[in-house]
Amino acid sequence: MPADADHSGYFALRDQLLGPLRTTVLTSDQLCEAGRLIYGDPYGLSLLGVPAPEMTANGITLLGRTAIECSVDSCVIPVVDTLAALQAVTAPEGPDTANPLIVDLFCGSGNFGHHLGQRLSRPVHASEFDSTVYNITRKNLDRVKSEVQLHLLDYRDLLDRLPARSTHDTYVVEPPWGPAFTAHGLDLTRTSPPVPEILDDIRRSRNGLLCHIVIKTSDQIAHNSLARSFTRARHLTTITPDPLLPYGTNMNFHLYELNS
Ligand SMILES: C[S@@+](CC[C@H](N)C(=O)[O-])C[C@H]1O[C@@H](n2cnc3c(N)ncnc32)[C@H](O)[C@@H]1O
Repeated sequence: MPADADHSGYFALRDQLLGPLRTTVLTSDQLCEAGRLIYGDPYGLSLLGVPAPEMTANGITLLGRTAIECSVDSCVIPVVDTLAALQAVTAPEGPDTANPLIVDLFCGSGNFGHHLGQRLSRPVHASEFDSTVYNITRKNLDRVKSEVQLHLLDYRDLLDRLPARSTHDTYVVEPPWGPAFTAHGLDLTRTSPPVPEILDDIRRSRNGLLCHIVIKTSDQIAHNSLARSFTRARHLTTITPDPLLPYGTNMNFHLYELNS
C-alpha cells in the first residue's frame, strides 16, 4: 500500500497549513511535501509557472495558508483556456468592449489573475486584504515579472474603483472557505464573505451589465448552495481536474454568466 493511500498525511498537512503554519513562510522541503501530499508530486504544487522544487531558487515564497488555498497552474490553465475560447466566440457589449476587466477579487497567490492576464493579454486587477499575504504575493509577482496590478484592499473597495466595461468583464471569486467546508460538503452560503453576498456586490458595481464569474468549489456541495448562489446566472461550464483526493476534497471550477 502506498505511504499515504488513506490520505492521512494530506489531512494532517491541511490542518497544519491552516493552523500553526498559517502565516509561516514554508521551507523548500515543506513546499515539496505539500506538493506530494496534495497533488501526488512535488511538481504539482506549481504557481506562476514555478513548481515547488524550484520556488526557493527562484525567490518564490509561500505562506502555509496560501499553499493549501491556492489554485495551482495545472488547474488554472485549463480554466483560463476555456474562458478564452468562450469569449472568442461571443461579441462583447458595453461601454468599453476593447478593454474588458479582469478582476481577481480574493487573489491570495495571484495565480489566477496572472494566468488570465497572460492568456487574454489584458491588464488584471487583484485585491488582497491581508497585508502578510499581500506582501509575499507582491514580491512573487515581481519575481516572475507579472503585470497583475495588486491592491492591498478589501474586494468591495476594488469593485468601487472599477466600473463595468463589457459583458466580457471577468471576476474570479475564491473567498476563504473556513467553516463553510464541512463533512457534508462546501456550503457557499457560509464562506467568508458568503458567495451570494459577493455576487450581489459585483452586480451593484455593474449597472445591469452581464459579466463572467470564475469560482472554485470542492467536488461536494452542501445544501445545493452552488445552484442557490447562482440563481440569477447562467451556468456556462464546469472543469473537473482529475480527482487525486477523497470525495469532498477535490476541486471543481465553474464558469457562469452573471445576470443583473
Ligand atoms: C482562498 S484564498 C484565494 C486563493 C487564490 N485564488 C490563489 O490561487 O491563491 C482567499 C484569499 O482572499 C483573501 N481575502 C479574504 N477576504 C478578503 C476581502 N474581503 N477582500 C480581499 N481579500 C480577501 C484572503 O486573505 C486569502 O488570501
